[in-house]
Amino acid sequence: MQTQPAGGLHGEMSKLYDVFVDWPGRLGREMPGVEALLASVGARKVLDAGCGTGRHVQALLERGFDAHGADVSDEMLANAAALLGGRERLHAWRLGEAPPSSVTTRAPFDAVLSMGNVWPQLADSGAAENAARAFLELLRPEGRLLLGLKALAVRRESGQPYMPLLKRRHDGRALWFVRFVDFDVPQPRAGELLADLHMAIVTGEAGATPQALHHGATRVRAWAPQELRGFFERAGFADVRVHARLEDRDSPPAGEDVYLSAVRPPR
Ligand SMILES: C[S@@+](CC[C@H](N)C(=O)[O-])C[C@H]1O[C@@H](n2cnc3c(N)ncnc32)[C@H](O)[C@@H]1O
Repeated sequence: MQTQPAGGLHGEMSKLYDVFVDWPGRLGREMPGVEALLASVGARKVLDAGCGTGRHVQALLERGFDAHGADVSDEMLANAAALLGGRERLHAWRLGEAPPSSVTTRAPFDAVLSMGNVWPQLADSGAAENAARAFLELLRPEGRLLLGLKALAVRRESGQPYMPLLKRRHDGRALWFVRFVDFDVPQPRAGELLADLHMAIVTGEAGATPQALHHGATRVRAWAPQELRGFFERAGFADVRVHARLEDRDSPPAGEDVYLSAVRPPR
């Protein structure tokens, strides 16, 4: 099993990330809701924190936003730079640490996004508090925060460790993306549930040599939906909602896939 050298996605996982995501389908589902939430605060300048391969940054640029992305992984940033045609709008930032000057000099942002389960990767509560504080400081008053994540505490209650299996054909072979969650890990702080999120990519068909191209585990925080709301209220955000559907801030959480939207309070 590979350990993640410096946090974030690396190696085969970084190379094959976009193979496993159905980007047209995903952006088709997400962007109308994202745009509506950005429009509700008149946003133009947007930071995507944990931007990965840069697809949301590209989608935002295409829709006329002044979009930037930040990520801890140089490899994911390199993918994003290839997509966007340069690194001008991309910044190396490990959430949980202070944002770099390339980000702070562009602040204030009208909105900060962090989609695709980045937030639980701040497993340490100090890192999560630092990241929430940084989001608040980077936003203008009444600016919008939007997170998309898996509230994995819901999965522990369901007792089902496996996430949906994905199969893709790529470079003439079948690739399987296997994800599961292990809650049997040390729990250093009462009231904060941690888990290991395992991600593996395997290939192989009957008669061919099977191969694991990647297996890595990331320690994550398994948030409960109601816990997220309290955390961001204590961090100083206003109008904090945790909702099931991106386009409906009143939709109650109905599973592990949730969105958190909030605003920086007016001065
Ligand atoms: C599952 S990907 C999601 C990427 C993209 N936001 C999306 O929706 O497809 C998680 C991303 O978060 C990044 N990441 C993980 N921990 C991070 C941290 N502490 N600071 C910044 N980026 C981080 C990873 O490198 C990876 O690109």
